[in-house]
Amino acid sequence: MSQPQKGICAEPNLHAQYLQYNVIDEDEQAIRSKLARVIEIFDHFDDEHYEAMVSGVVCIGADYFSELYPGLRPLELSPFPDMQCDDRIAPSQTTDLFIQIRADRLDIVHAISVEVHELLRIHVELVEDLRGFRYLDGRDLTGFIDADDNPRGLTKKTVAIIGDNDPDFAGGCYVHTQKYMHDMARWNLLSQRRQEQVMGCTREHHLPSPEANANSHYIRSRVTDLSDVHAKQQLVRQSMPYANIREQGLFFVSHCQSAIPFKHMLHSMIFGTNVDEYDAFLDFTSAQTGGAYFAPSLDFIKQRAQS
Ligand code: HEM
Repeated sequence: MSQPQKGICAEPNLHAQYLQYNVIDEDEQAIRSKLARVIEIFDHFDDEHYEAMVSGVVCIGADYFSELYPGLRPLELSPFPDMQCDDRIAPSQTTDLFIQIRADRLDIVHAISVEVHELLRIHVELVEDLRGFRYLDGRDLTGFIDADDNPRGLTKKTVAIIGDNDPDFAGGCYVHTQKYMHDMARWNLLSQRRQEQVMGCTREHHLPSPEANANSHYIRSRVTDLSDVHAKQQLVRQSMPYANIREQGLFFVSHCQSAIPFKHMLHSMIFGTNVDEYDAFLDFTSAQTGGAYFAPSLDFIKQRAQS
């Protein structure tokens, strides 16, 4: 099977840099070749600084994919599903390229980012440059452990990586991003009990909260009512908090062998199943951007570097 990119199923890291670019020239051949060199940069730093647990993912935007690799398209690659219900929004802002850089050393993350940016600089404009960090023991800034229920072991690969159902893209992965900005002042006014009800799990030990209801995030993101092959509805979530004094939140990143589970979960969070059964956490955070990408296998990127 084609080799997936290393960062897709990587264990959580301490630091991340998320770079989102739009391509401003039409030199697709140069971009194809340079994306293969980005992978070489990841490998080089991984070899030189093994202890830093370097991992990265090169992702191509849903709209740009057919320009960059004409003639072939992943079966489920489609634009970001922008949605709105009352004041709950999921705006779309898919860029042409999304490069995830992660490691357990901030200096290494920085050094890789600089090399990647220098390599791509003449072809692109930088749209987002965000630094993520591990907060406490893997918590979101709200205080709740995030991605504790991520699939583990072999299941992780089954959930994240395309297999024989789309042979041209085996080893690839659908990637969705959303930059959420939290209203921490408002969130901090809630009692711990109310926060646990909103999230649907307990803060200290991450057990399902006895107070969870149809509006709880944990319940809203558990979509189980499909009768097709996607009924399992799982994602590998690789999100990380970001923050400065002015704004703070979560840079949500999901990896999946299908583009459908993310869309169903987001729909369930924003619209709910019945009236007013939306995800109550969306009263305390709002998505600023959203992107739909594809992360091809290493073989796919390397084979097309010269064509
Ligand atoms: C600011 C944004 C978000 C925050 C802070 C957040 C936080 C959390 C927390 C604390 C949990 C429970 C612990 C765990 O991770 O298992 C959770 C579960 C989950 N979230 Fe989110 N989440 C966010 C956005 C999203 C989005 C946009 C999706 C998908 C569209 C999503 C999908 C899930 C899933 C699938 C679970 C696991 C449910 C299960 O165990 O079956 N989350 N999230």
